[in-house]
Amino acid sequence: MLRRLHKDQPASFAFTPANLEWAQGQISKYPEGRQASAIIPLLWRAQEQEGWLSRPAIEHVAGMLGMAYIRALEVATFYFMFQLQPVGSVAHIQICGTTSCMICGAEDLIAVCKDLISPRPHSLSADGKFSWEEVECLGACANAPMAQIGKDYYEDLTAPKLRDLIARFSKGEVPVPGPQNGRYAAEPLSGLTTLKDFESGKQAYNASVQNAVDIGDTVKRIDGTEVPILTPWLGKTKAAVAKAAPKTVPAEKAPATAAAEAPAVTGTKPQALVAARDGKADNLKEIKGIGPKLELVCNGLGFFHFDQIANWTAAEIAWVDDNLEGFKGRVTRDNWVEQAKILAAGGETEFSKRVEKGGVYD
Ligand code: FES
Repeated sequence: MLRRLHKDQPASFAFTPANLEWAQGQISKYPEGRQASAIIPLLWRAQEQEGWLSRPAIEHVAGMLGMAYIRALEVATFYFMFQLQPVGSVAHIQICGTTSCMICGAEDLIAVCKDLISPRPHSLSADGKFSWEEVECLGACANAPMAQIGKDYYEDLTAPKLRDLIARFSKGEVPVPGPQNGRYAAEPLSGLTTLKDFESGKQAYNASVQNAVDIGDTVKRIDGTEVPILTPWLGKTKAAVAKAAPKTVPAEKAPATAAAEAPAVTGTKPQALVAARDGKADNLKEIKGIGPKLELVCNGLGFFHFDQIANWTAAEIAWVDDNLEGFKGRVTRDNWVEQAKILAAGGETEFSKRVEKGGVYD
């Protein structure tokens, strides 16, 4: 494939202030005269910020590293991980077309991309939201066929499943990554034949999916504010960052009270409680998607009971989604309200049964 700069280029490129600080931290890892060693992380960060690598971005990075433009261009055009043309504003979809995936239906997935996005790879859908390409083996062959969407893997796909995923991304949702056919990880489709004890101890998601869910940046463009930038060799340690961070909750306030006063960003704040009724909170972890950490966040916001969650309106869901520090968007993504309605009415879900049985979070 011929890899060259796109015909339409933006006028300029600049890192966001936080990404610039991150880039300078990367450069400072290398001894004087070896700054060019930071070329790949800097180009990658530029792509994570913009979605693709434009000529101004490549030149900007070359300038930061004191390199000739052509040297930076050589790197950008050599590695296929760098996108040299605009990608979808919502997601760039990479369909694995190698042996396992091809045998298991990758061609059907490519047909979906051609139908819903564009007949040609590396070009935008009519609404500009999506682009796609076929890639080589992504190392998830046991869960073939699969696709990487944004930063995460969606596995055990079928054409209808991929259509559904694209529709959901288009609506602003971020479906949970990982196997899409009910498999937990890469166990046999017919169920476990050995290590059956594992069944009772498993968490809601496998480790890779849990990590993706916790980080929550599947299709996010990175602006550098996501994680503190640490450069301990320059004195910027975790402790120094924590000390400098503005306190959002005054230390002397009880967590529930203080969090109940947290400012709403969008939507309407649902009615919150200072404490659980009769001192007995529901086990919110029976809602799939709420783990121990997120349960604490909910309690901190004043939510302790299934019936509270079951009654949230769309505006209230938007508020909670926006105020779950570190877990934004989880209410919608994991469909808390529907689950809470069942649990508040005294019913059970497959997941709540497993939590009650013990072993999920023990
Ligand atoms: S063949 Fe598709 S992930 Fe390996």
